[in-house]
Amino acid sequence: MTEFDQYRDGYSQQIDNAIAFSGQPQDFFTRAKARYLLDVFSTVRSQLKEGALRPLDVLDIGCGQGLIHPHLPPEKSGIRLTGIDVAGTVIEEARASNPDVHYDVYEGTRLPYQDRSFDIAYAIAVMHHVPPDDWKSFLVEAARVVRPGGLVIIIEHNPVNPLTQKIVRSCPFDQNAVLLHSGQLAKLFRAAGLVDPKRQFIIFTPFDTPFFHRLDTSLGWLPLGAQYCMAAHVPS
Ligand SMILES: C[S@@+](CC[C@H](N)C(=O)[O-])C[C@H]1O[C@@H](n2cnc3c(N)ncnc32)[C@H](O)[C@@H]1O
Repeated sequence: MTEFDQYRDGYSQQIDNAIAFSGQPQDFFTRAKARYLLDVFSTVRSQLKEGALRPLDVLDIGCGQGLIHPHLPPEKSGIRLTGIDVAGTVIEEARASNPDVHYDVYEGTRLPYQDRSFDIAYAIAVMHHVPPDDWKSFLVEAARVVRPGGLVIIIEHNPVNPLTQKIVRSCPFDQNAVLLHSGQLAKLFRAAGLVDPKRQFIIFTPFDTPFFHRLDTSLGWLPLGAQYCMAAHVPS
């Protein structure tokens, strides 16, 4: 049984407790990440030679209960989604909630997919649970299953943001978390053979209106957001 199997029943409640001071529910943070991903999917699809003819094959590594998956429906996202995690009971919940998504369980090192199976692989709030000695191999493995020219995307807590630190400190399942700075992640991306890493910070305010969503996007360069997203290409 993995750490997250143990937290399965209380997972959402623990997060809600840790973020209560922000005045926003967990879904506010999930939707901010979904907006970023939908934007990336749309850009990648517009650059495909086949145009909008085929869905993108996307892998969510460490998807947990698949909380973001309802925000990435195939008709809106243009993707065919696979989720994978090391926690089997959590994946059972994800399967029950998201019948459109294919889910797998693995042991945490070797993804059970052929090389070059996906257009994009992403991992949200996973690397800080992976031991630092394994960070590079985690990225190498993500890159292995992505097609040349495709993207690996990591979304992580920003350790520079004091409110993020407060949330991590008060979340029981983050006790062993080791947060990564975005500069550190950019170096790891390059060490894993990924090219041209692009960074965007997200979640600058706790306000949930289109105006503040646009403000969030325009501030993406400022290293103070609660979380950051980094995307880099697998060399062509
Ligand atoms: C904080 S949860 C994030 C879940 C989901 N990505 C989200 O944003 O809601 C971290 C997840 O990473 C998973 N995990 C930890 N180590 C992993 C590994 N080596 N490979 C895949 N998943 C892993 C845990 O089981 C857990 O479900």
